[in-house]
Amino acid sequence: MNTKIIRVEENDIDEALIKEAGDVIKSGGLVAFPTETVYGLGGDALNPESSKKIYAAKGRPSDNPLIVHIADMESLAKVVKKIPKEAYVLAEAFWPGPLTMIFEKSDAVPFETTGGLSTVAVRMPSDKIANAFIKAAGGYVAAPSANLSGKPSPTEDKYVIEDMDGRINMILCGGRSLVGLESTIVDLTEETPVILRPGYITEDMLSKALGVKVLWDRAIKEPAADVAPKAPGMKYRHYAPNAPLTIVEGDADKVADAINRLGDKDITEGKKVAVIAAAENTAKYDKRFLIKSAGSFYNEDEAARLLFAILRELDDEDAEVIYSEAFKETGVGCATMNRLMKAAGHHVLTV
Ligand code: TXA
Ligand code: MG
Repeated sequence: MNTKIIRVEENDIDEALIKEAGDVIKSGGLVAFPTETVYGLGGDALNPESSKKIYAAKGRPSDNPLIVHIADMESLAKVVKKIPKEAYVLAEAFWPGPLTMIFEKSDAVPFETTGGLSTVAVRMPSDKIANAFIKAAGGYVAAPSANLSGKPSPTEDKYVIEDMDGRINMILCGGRSLVGLESTIVDLTEETPVILRPGYITEDMLSKALGVKVLWDRAIKEPAADVAPKAPGMKYRHYAPNAPLTIVEGDADKVADAINRLGDKDITEGKKVAVIAAAENTAKYDKRFLIKSAGSFYNEDEAARLLFAILRELDDEDAEVIYSEAFKETGVGCATMNRLMKAAGHHVLTV
């Protein structure tokens, strides 16, 4: 398939191009588009054939449900059975933005879009290009992250092109994603809202807005427990670089000593060693290592924004062993550590 690659300026959106992209969706095609979290791979959420095409383009198991993206609050009623009162509160506080809510689905949403589930995930992105595109597409765009299954979610258009060129009809390029990690998912079908995936909107933010303490899906906090995560996508080994990744946590100087020692041994064995470190610490590492700065230790937003690009770069640069410092877990840092832990297969060394 010939993929049309188009650059869109967020502050000067070309309406004709957006209409063209919207028409592709309306006629059953696929368009990748920027959002504030990561790029999405969009199809018509109400068309079962479009959802099937999304799974095929991503190489994704079809029991992994897609998120339905909307552009205004009026659209919500069509895709859900009923809107619980918590949804109005959370929408008022966090929409448009990096929050996905799970509802009972309406009959308008085909099971192909929800991976066979009777619930549906809905998100209203804040990105201006995404908003204009969803409207032009008829209002309901099903989209997973626009990566090939098993790769990190794309946070820059070049990675979308790398993964999707030739597999879909069109790619809208809009530069770098602001947040850099996928949306927070909160399930509103239970008595008390439950976080199924951490993201930029934190547990504290949700609890404060709702006036109740939200819960966590047990499978997220205790990944060793024999419980399946409620978000089917969280069970797959995601975001994993080709090389084994070990998180080393503890006092910064001890961490650097440990990584320098371990990495020295790896180099003796002829391996290419990479380190992910806070900007403040990069100078502590052996100069023979490939060192990736995740931004200042004090800026958790920056680490979130950079992590997926760093993981892709490490693959591109053929790292053979990777060590990472642990990130600060305040704010979005909790979500960043969740993704880093998955990339590491929960392999943590405490020093
Ligand atoms: O930020 C985001 O959410 C990005 C952008 C493109 O909006 N999208 C994204 O989609 O991350 P995806 O497909 O990569 O992740 C969606 C997650 C999966 O883990 C999936 O299992 C879960 O949402 N999910 C979708 N519908 C669900 C449902 N009805 N019940 C539980 N989990 C659901
Ligand atoms: Mg994904």
